[in-house]
Formats: sequence, C-alpha cells, structure tokens
Amino acid sequence: MSKQINLTLKVWRQSKGEAGRFETYEAKNIDTDASFLEMLDVVNDELTVKGVEPIAFEHDCREGICGCCGALVNGKTHGSHDRTTLCQLHMRHFEDGQELVLEPFRADAFPVLKDLIVDRSGLDEIITEGGYVAVKTGNAPEASTTPIKKEFAEAAMDAAECIGCGACVASCPNGSAMLFTSAKVSQYALLPQGHPERAKRVKAMVSKMDELGFGNCSNEYECAVACPKGIDVKNIARLNREFIKHGFKS
Ligand code: SF4
Ligand code: FES
Repeated sequence: MSKQINLTLKVWRQSKGEAGRFETYEAKNIDTDASFLEMLDVVNDELTVKGVEPIAFEHDCREGICGCCGALVNGKTHGSHDRTTLCQLHMRHFEDGQELVLEPFRADAFPVLKDLIVDRSGLDEIITEGGYVAVKTGNAPEASTTPIKKEFAEAAMDAAECIGCGACVASCPNGSAMLFTSAKVSQYALLPQGHPERAKRVKAMVSKMDELGFGNCSNEYECAVACPKGIDVKNIARLNREFIKHGFKS
C-alpha cells in the first residue's frame, strides 16, 4: 500500500561554464508509488511557485528504454537499484526522513551542461563512427537463408539492450566507455550481417572512444554492476578479441 514520505534533497546546481554548488530542498508528501522523476516533478512545481529555477534533469521515455535519464543518487548511478533506470526507480525504496544527495554523472568525457544534465554526445559519436551495416538492395531475403546459431542470436540481442545511458562510464574509476562500446561492437560482430564492416567498425569505434577522452579499462567491473540493462562484461573481452584480430590490420 502506498504512503507519503518526506525527504531532504541536496541537489547539485550548475550552469554551463560556471562553478557548481549544492542547494538543499525539501520534498514533501511524496507518494511512495511515484517514480524518482515524478518526485523531482513535484519538487520542481514547488520551486516554480516560489520563483526558484527548477532543477534541470534529462528524461524522455520514462520507461527505461531511451537512456536519457540518469544521475547520481547518494553517489550511485541511477540510485543503484538492480537493473533499474532512474525513471523506473520508485520512491518506495526510500525511507521517510531520508537525505538524498543528487549529482550529475561524473566523468571527464561528460561535461555538465546544467544541474543534473551532462553532455553524453560522446557516446553518439562512438556509434556514428561505427558506420553503417551494408545491405543488398532489392527484396528482403528469406530469413532462413542466413542461419544464425541460437547462442549468437541471444548474445547479440542481449548486447543490443544497451540504451546508451552512460552509467557505465560514470561508475568507472577511469571514466571508461568500454562496456558501452563493447556492447555496440558485439551486437554486430556476433551476427553475419555485421561481418563485412567488422574490422573497420571496431578500429573506428575504439579510436573515437580514445580520442574523446574516455579512460582505459582496468577490469574494475563497476560498469557491469551499474548497468541498468545487465550488459555483460564478456562483451569487453569480445571487443578486445575483435580489436586484436582486426585492429592491427591496415
Ligand atoms: S552498457 Fe549499460 S550502463 Fe553503459 S550505456 Fe549501455 S545500458 Fe547504460
Ligand atoms: S527516461 Fe528513458 S530510460 Fe529513463
């Protein structure tokens, strides 16, 4: 049964290019059935009435599929509830009277744009660098003419679950985008349709990742714990194999 709780929020407020600071706000009479973002909506309504600028946070689908939302809640990406994005985190997981510290994702490659919003366009640039998958024009071929082993199809679909939220980067002590990049490389490398550009793709995505200032992977595996979609670190091993196999060819 739902109930109402009161919380104290310490929220990072920052405008682009300016120094940030924490501001304290009260979140009153929050329904425990509300999502975390709905709680922020309630707080923002009250701030607006008082003439205070609302807290800027990113969101779109609010269903855990677009990857737009994300913030640190008490130092944990997405609040660190198992396989849950911030938009799907419910207030029933918090205690009445609890203090929550809200910060933007912290990573060198994710500069703060405003309050809890960071620039994650580096992840889009890595995907763009991967290029297109070549397809023959004409009618779609019979699906059964391209046999794919079940284990490969399932692993490719699992890798394709990555929503590009960036929690892996923000949770990594090195700010590495290896889990994200490995998921994107794997979803194509595992399927025959992705093989023609396989070598070019892995080289381009890894070099873009390095160019944009994402850190190196030192096998901390914090990324896999933080990932709301359960992306497996085995993808990082696959990325390394792909890179060693294809990355040194001209
Ligand atoms: S690998 Fe997981 S944490 Fe990283 S961007 Fe994809 S969904 Fe988000
Ligand atoms: S708003 Fe789309 S995943 Fe959270």
